[in-house]
Amino acid sequence: MQICKVKNYQELSRKAANLIAAQVILKPDSVLGLATGSSPVGTYEHLVEMYENGDLDFSQVTTVNLDEYKGLAGSDKQSYRYFMNTHLFHKININHANTYVPNGTEPDAEKACQAYNELLHKIGSADIQILGLGHDGHIGFNEPSDHFENETHCVDLTETTIQANKRFFDSEKDVPKQAYTMGIGTIMRCRKILVVVSGKDKAEILKQVVQGPVTPEVPGSILQFHPDCMIIADEAALSEMA
Ligand code: F6R
Repeated sequence: MQICKVKNYQELSRKAANLIAAQVILKPDSVLGLATGSSPVGTYEHLVEMYENGDLDFSQVTTVNLDEYKGLAGSDKQSYRYFMNTHLFHKININHANTYVPNGTEPDAEKACQAYNELLHKIGSADIQILGLGHDGHIGFNEPSDHFENETHCVDLTETTIQANKRFFDSEKDVPKQAYTMGIGTIMRCRKILVVVSGKDKAEILKQVVQGPVTPEVPGSILQFHPDCMIIADEAALSEMA
């Protein structure tokens, strides 16, 4: 694990965007593993800016997203498909047919997960996967558990996650209670992993992820075993680390 300490969210976003841009420049048909949530928003803004300046071409890129709420359609403003469209895909020259998010409208969890797994097998491992970190240590929506899940599965969101995500919904009762997420095995098979972590509220869990034991109780701790994982974190997020 390589830790890259930056001053603040702005610097974090610029650095993460530069690393993703380098990947796309070096390999124009890269597979990018993408995340939603607040952490990568600034990164996507920078990528859009680089595209607008003529410095990046996404025409051959394929993207696979980590997760989607079960029950939400892509047209729903709270869905992760909608998030990706509005923050990135609709602002760059990516072929929309090459952008993939689990199908939240498939009510049969087994079917939804199997379809996403088949797709991921066909596409192959992501060249670079961007991750945020949940307050309970989740990556994707792999919540604390007694084991690591290998591939895409349906999860019951924890109370911590529901509380953290209710800020995006009109009321807490609107927050879906389940999601489809890529498994830990799939994430670990990505060639490079970039974790973006910002803010004091992530300091305690980041310390556990980096310095604690590797355990499914803190799912992000598995990243200690990834051969090419960089954590870009700001001073506030690193404030609990020795
Ligand atoms: C989102 C995802 C989640 C978030 C995590 C942190 O696709 O997979 O693991 O990365 O919940 O969310 P933020 O960045 O909003 O703190």
